[in-house]
Amino acid sequence: MANDDQFKKVISHAKEYGYVFQSSEIYDGLSAVYDYAQNGAELKKNIRDYWWKAMVQMHDNIVGIDAAIFMHPTTWKASGHVDAFSDPLIDNKDSKKRYRADVLVEDYCAKIENKIEKEIKKAEKRFGDAFNKEEFVSTNGRVVGYQEKIDSILKRLGQSLEKEDLADVKALIEELEIACPVAGSRNWTDVKQFNLMFGTKLGASAETAMDLYLRPETAQGIFVNFLNVQKTGRLKIPFGIAQTGKAFRNEIVARQFIFRMREFEQMEMQFFIKPGTQKKWFEYWKETRLKWHQSLGLGEENYRFHDHEKLAHYADAATDIEFKFPFGFKELEGIHSRTDFDLKQHEAFSGKKLQYFDHEDNESYTPYVLETSIGLDRMFLAVFSNALMEEALEDGKTRTVLKLPAVLAPVKAAIFPLLAKDGLPEIAQQIVEDLKWDFNVTYEEKDTVGRRYRRQDANGTPFCITVDHDTLEDNSVTIRHRDTMEQKRVKIEDLKAIIKAEVDVKHWLQKMEM
Ligand code: GAP
Repeated sequence: MANDDQFKKVISHAKEYGYVFQSSEIYDGLSAVYDYAQNGAELKKNIRDYWWKAMVQMHDNIVGIDAAIFMHPTTWKASGHVDAFSDPLIDNKDSKKRYRADVLVEDYCAKIENKIEKEIKKAEKRFGDAFNKEEFVSTNGRVVGYQEKIDSILKRLGQSLEKEDLADVKALIEELEIACPVAGSRNWTDVKQFNLMFGTKLGASAETAMDLYLRPETAQGIFVNFLNVQKTGRLKIPFGIAQTGKAFRNEIVARQFIFRMREFEQMEMQFFIKPGTQKKWFEYWKETRLKWHQSLGLGEENYRFHDHEKLAHYADAATDIEFKFPFGFKELEGIHSRTDFDLKQHEAFSGKKLQYFDHEDNESYTPYVLETSIGLDRMFLAVFSNALMEEALEDGKTRTVLKLPAVLAPVKAAIFPLLAKDGLPEIAQQIVEDLKWDFNVTYEEKDTVGRRYRRQDANGTPFCITVDHDTLEDNSVTIRHRDTMEQKRVKIEDLKAIIKAEVDVKHWLQKMEM
């Protein structure tokens, strides 16, 4: 399936099966704002729990907090967001559409990357088993040329943005002859910076109301609480503070479904360390976070690191973990070495000391910070899009199946009576009653069992359990596995252990240690 078609399918499947809806759909929706429906809310919660378990509960030296969305406005002056949290924008004078200038250039490069992919596919077909991808991409003249072109464009873009040379960003767009996707023309304005924070007001009267921002990242709620948490938790460096929560950005290029939203959720962890140790911890968290992703089994080939050329105003090193979404490799998580920038800024703006006294070295210092920051919605999209597939069956038919990692699946088991009579529904209902203490399960009795299987496959449910007339005799049921479609006869009393073995967080997270 072409990538565009696959992505459209992801979006419509998310709606059809109660995962994600456009916000305020009855009023024609709100651009780049989405609601999570009954299955989506469960999947999102399971991803959040999986992260929390790995980051907070499995680390003796990491604690979790839940800071408010509203923060004192000086926070954002101190953090640099008021002055520097902006995107370079460009307007097309004919269509009056506004674009992120850097994204226009990156999209141009993505098109070249598609050409590389096509060359690889062609060669794969031609050479069959003898095909060596690594050798091909490093020696094929056309592919090497494409890659050099991408590298030189991105290098120039990075350097121009670094130097705030917006005139050169425009020159680059013109030289590459990038046209407006709507008007098709190259009639561009100059590139200008645009702040991404949403403003709001606190207070009843217009005169006394205080201007506030909706937080654009959760990290600052951790920084301003750093000393409170360290002291009350008697924490010793190195230690981490984690939280999950909503963040808001007035994204101009808001598209690609839940990939880039105006209201989204982050899962962030700030790891406070001794100055000078940041390189070691940067490597440690790069590796640890990649292992967390890989523990979910979405395919090692679908991840790559992308080291930043242009560093944010607070960082001395940064990398992205990129994931292969249906529209190509894009940032899923950021790992940033934030130095002591944030704590020093908050000290300067608040006039309060935010230092740590190191009893071992008998000295006070402002800790350095290693940050891991992942978008929960982006992780949702990664998991969901990777899971959705059309599978050819032996009888020539196809089935749509959502092969979500069982630990994340919203519903772990669907319980069916073969027929809605003869006492079978009562037994099935009793199984639901017993299992629901441990798992999210559902009951279904409409349609043939075959149709019920298909519906649960498309819903991502790892197990279907069918009660039939033999159950009345021997207390056994048929359990069917979503991925293999294999069916087994098992005792009702063994169901809990069978399901637990596959959906238990421990079973999945232990893969990080391998
Ligand atoms: N505290 C650091 C920080 O916020 P970021 O790279 O701007 O860094 C971190 O954001 C992560 O948040 C990204 O890797 C991405 O997964 C997610 N994210 C950022 N903007 C987003 C948006 N508009 N919609 C959805 N997720 C977003």
